Amino acid sequence: MKHLLKLMDLSQAEIADILNLADQLKYEKKNGIEHHLLKGKTLGMIFQKSSTRTRVSFEVGMADLGGHALFLSSRDLQIGRGEPVQDTARVLSRYLDGIMIRTFEQKEVEMLAEYGTIPIINGLTDYCHPCQVLADLMTIREHKGMLKGKKLCYIGDGNNMANSLIVGCIKMGMSVAIGCPDTYQPDAEIMKWAKENGDFLCTSDIFEAAKDADAVYTDVWASMGQEGEAAERQKVFKSYQVSSELMKVAKPDAMVLHCLPAHRGEEITEEVLEAHANEIFDEAENRLHAQKAVLVKCMA
Ligand code: CP
Ligand code: NVA
Repeated sequence: MKHLLKLMDLSQAEIADILNLADQLKYEKKNGIEHHLLKGKTLGMIFQKSSTRTRVSFEVGMADLGGHALFLSSRDLQIGRGEPVQDTARVLSRYLDGIMIRTFEQKEVEMLAEYGTIPIINGLTDYCHPCQVLADLMTIREHKGMLKGKKLCYIGDGNNMANSLIVGCIKMGMSVAIGCPDTYQPDAEIMKWAKENGDFLCTSDIFEAAKDADAVYTDVWASMGQEGEAAERQKVFKSYQVSSELMKVAKPDAMVLHCLPAHRGEEITEEVLEAHANEIFDEAENRLHAQKAVLVKCMA
């Protein structure tokens, strides 16, 4: 695997390989077994948006693997003052062994990969969040034993999370139902692909979407960069909430996932978040293990 730009680029076998290696690395870390597979290698981490989990898990992951991570805020880089991404890619390729980038446009990530000569890992764009969904799949498998045949329901904005969840879950043989307002649906091409390649539903009825789900997922109503739309979105998404009432229509043992940060009382109630904290924080932990697997596959 050269890059991780989006999950659509990976085959089912490649995703399964990453998940298996992630499980192994998690087990070994818990048992004090170290693998310095990236000894002497440096990962540059470009952030054009805030981050807690992505930044810390990549930095710790590189340290675990014997390498080094460099935090590069776009506020300090020349890219933040307009230096073209094509030039940044070629310069950074001369110093670094890999780049993780969190930015707005997916095109910027694709251009880094096109002009650079080192592995590029997408740490979130407005279009998708592949690293998060690899950790999500790992967590569902951990809690449910398998992925194939399980149903994931996503409630809320048809955003980067929804796009990546659709692709990752359908590729792994899961069924996917999205409950979102008609005007905030996921990417049209991704939905078309999902309908052609698996069991997929997109509805504005959240109870229909959550029916018999094995995993119920949600994310914020206003993503990073959409702060100006927050008030309008509060109105539109008011009823798109994961609540105890909604959980009643899912399977009795359904798990709840949230990529975090969460807004209690908006997309998820305090009660549901706390009742499922174990699953949600396993999911956050698994960012570390899943990304170490990605780093090894791309950079070792
Ligand atoms: N879920 C996630 O990507 O979290 P951060 O924004 O904190 O990195
Ligand atoms: N949809 C959210 C995900 C954060 C991890 C955002 O883009 O802000």
